[in-house]
Amino acid sequence: MPATVVIGTQWGDEGKGKIVDLLAADADVVVRFHGGNNAGHTLVVNGEKTILNLVPAGVLHPGRVCMIGPGVVIDPEVLVGEIDALRARGYLADDAWLRVSEQAHLIMPYHRAIDRARERLRGTEAIGTTGRGIGPAYEDKVNRSGIRVGDLFDEVGFREALRTNLREKNAYLEALLGEAPLAFDAIHERYLGYRERLRPFLADTGAELRAALAAGRRVLLEGAQGTMLDVDHGTYPYVTSSSCVASAAAAGAGLPARALGRVVGIAKAYTTRVGGGPFPTELTDALGERLRADGDEYGATTGRPRRCGWFDAVVVRQAVAFSGVDGIALTKLDVLSGMDPVRMCVAYELGGRRLELPPHARHAWPRVKPVYEDMPGWRESLGGTKSLDDLPGNARRYVERLAVLVGAPIALLSIGAQRDQTVRLADLF
Ligand code: GDP
Ligand code: IMO
Ligand code: MG
Repeated sequence: MPATVVIGTQWGDEGKGKIVDLLAADADVVVRFHGGNNAGHTLVVNGEKTILNLVPAGVLHPGRVCMIGPGVVIDPEVLVGEIDALRARGYLADDAWLRVSEQAHLIMPYHRAIDRARERLRGTEAIGTTGRGIGPAYEDKVNRSGIRVGDLFDEVGFREALRTNLREKNAYLEALLGEAPLAFDAIHERYLGYRERLRPFLADTGAELRAALAAGRRVLLEGAQGTMLDVDHGTYPYVTSSSCVASAAAAGAGLPARALGRVVGIAKAYTTRVGGGPFPTELTDALGERLRADGDEYGATTGRPRRCGWFDAVVVRQAVAFSGVDGIALTKLDVLSGMDPVRMCVAYELGGRRLELPPHARHAWPRVKPVYEDMPGWRESLGGTKSLDDLPGNARRYVERLAVLVGAPIALLSIGAQRDQTVRLADLF
């Protein structure tokens, strides 16, 4: 059976963590395939909240194999901290339940320093990165000076690579970014410590994953970020530094393209974005504040307030097209209770023309105007919804209209953060 891919269809924070945790009940292996600890995936199980930055969201199910694939960038300090925190709560009881790719690139202290210093210097033009060193780590991977997890096990090679990189990074940090240089010995020693902590989990995850699929195991590929943050297809340059579309899952996990099966697109019933960049349906008024308060829209990684706005079908339509989304998991519908009317952006207008898909040119984005369709709202709380028939009529019409506008059926409806506040409408494997 091919693998199921879960991706974000907006600007991240759609609720991927909740949905992956839910689907992981029926999976054997859960894999992160891109991004790093810029991600913050929230799981609420039995009233207890868990935020995961690197460990896949299958980890609360004992016995699931969680893999961090070759396409991920790993800050070992964060990963080790996450493992310790999970272990302290009784999770990850067996080393074999976490597999870390020896091919994944390491985030180094100079990546974080460069990320933060550059953002400071960009001033009002800042991207609003998470400051976790993601972009600089991917830069080094692509320019072939990166250090991978497996490289830590070659003492001489690691020392030389670190020395060479640090010489160049320190020159850059001091001369161009006005930052203090970083000391070799401290980094060297710390990373050798991480090496020992990660040793039990080190694996050729691609080979293990292909073998698992061949043996008929059920595999879930967990995307991070969202389609509009994709480095090629998002709102460049206000994007992250990896590919967030479903096809990236094959390369990032080490699978052939034909191993990918169903694609689940997670969409929030409204829109949020953290950081800078275009956001046509943003609400900067009291309605936006209300969405932020009711939806608890504060970053799971950085705690920053999220920008909030109406649902943008243009954006999700694009994500459905790019990733071949088979079904939408629609989250946070409960947050819209009490809003009247509820608005949906159905198209953009640019210079008198109607656009059904987003523009690609950077200069076009600030000029697009959302074309809205208003629908009557509903007052009822959706907490007890068990089936589509339980929804207030107007909520049901909103969901049905949304599916038509984005061009994909609703496969799952989420009406609360808890695992069981979910209505399943289709089989997602
Ligand atoms: P991710 O990055 O896509 O995994 O999403 P985040 O975890 O960053 O943000 C989603 C937030 O919404 C988290 O706080 C979740 O607990 C919460 N959440 C997920 N689904 C629902 C839902 O249907 N209703 C409500 N009210 N909260 C939800
Ligand atoms: P999850 O997986 C929301 C955003 C940052 C910034 C831009 C670039 O939780 O949905 P980066 O640190 O990646 O170089 O920052 O991307 N960003 C996210 N926004 N959710 C995320 O992950 C994000 N990961 C990165 O806010 O605008
Ligand atoms: Mg998040």
